[in-house]
Amino acid sequence: MTKVLLATRNAGKLAELRRMLEAAGLRGIEILGLAEVPAFPEAPETGATFAENAVAKARDAAATTGLPSIADDSGLTVDALSGMPGVFSARWSGRHGDDVSNLELLLAQLHDVPDARRSAAFVCAAALVVPGATEEIVVHGEWRGRLVRAPRGTNGFGYDPIFVPEGDERTSAELPPAEKDAVSHRGRALRALLPHLKALAG
Ligand code: IMP
Repeated sequence: MTKVLLATRNAGKLAELRRMLEAAGLRGIEILGLAEVPAFPEAPETGATFAENAVAKARDAAATTGLPSIADDSGLTVDALSGMPGVFSARWSGRHGDDVSNLELLLAQLHDVPDARRSAAFVCAAALVVPGATEEIVVHGEWRGRLVRAPRGTNGFGYDPIFVPEGDERTSAELPPAEKDAVSHRGRALRALLPHLKALAG
């Protein structure tokens, strides 16, 4: 078994990647989370792009654990806000991880923006850094949609209750988790890593 670290404490992300490996019939890779390796200091996310943050996290994880390491960074880009909250999605209201305040602030900012200009996309960059390898792999996933005016649904997290994916009328918080995984920004990015993980499995 080749051990690969997914540099996250989010149990949902770990389960999602493990499900994808299984669905792809990819055996020989064991995915570990940060809780399963010795603790190391985690640097704050200071990058200007999702890719910079993902690569920095994967590099730190690979350098300290010696394991091939994957990290992701994601967020919501709103066209009427020139791509913001972007890399600031998790701390848009000033408090890291306060999903309710972040969503409420964004809705208030968009109050006067007409329906025709409420387009947005969830974006995810995922990086794979293998100790000793010269190349760092970075892949992207995007999920386009629009923002509604009032939250709906209880699945998911973050901005899911106000994001309606293209071609749907439900918010992403109203989608069953497996349906979201199949089309989401993170699902797309992680799936793009599968061929690279296959190569690691040998
Ligand atoms: P991170 O990549 O886990 O650091 O997530 C960054 C932030 O982007 C989260 O705190 C959410 O606010 C937002 N975000 C990223 N992906 C999603 C998603 O799938 N649904 C809702 N919000 C998301």
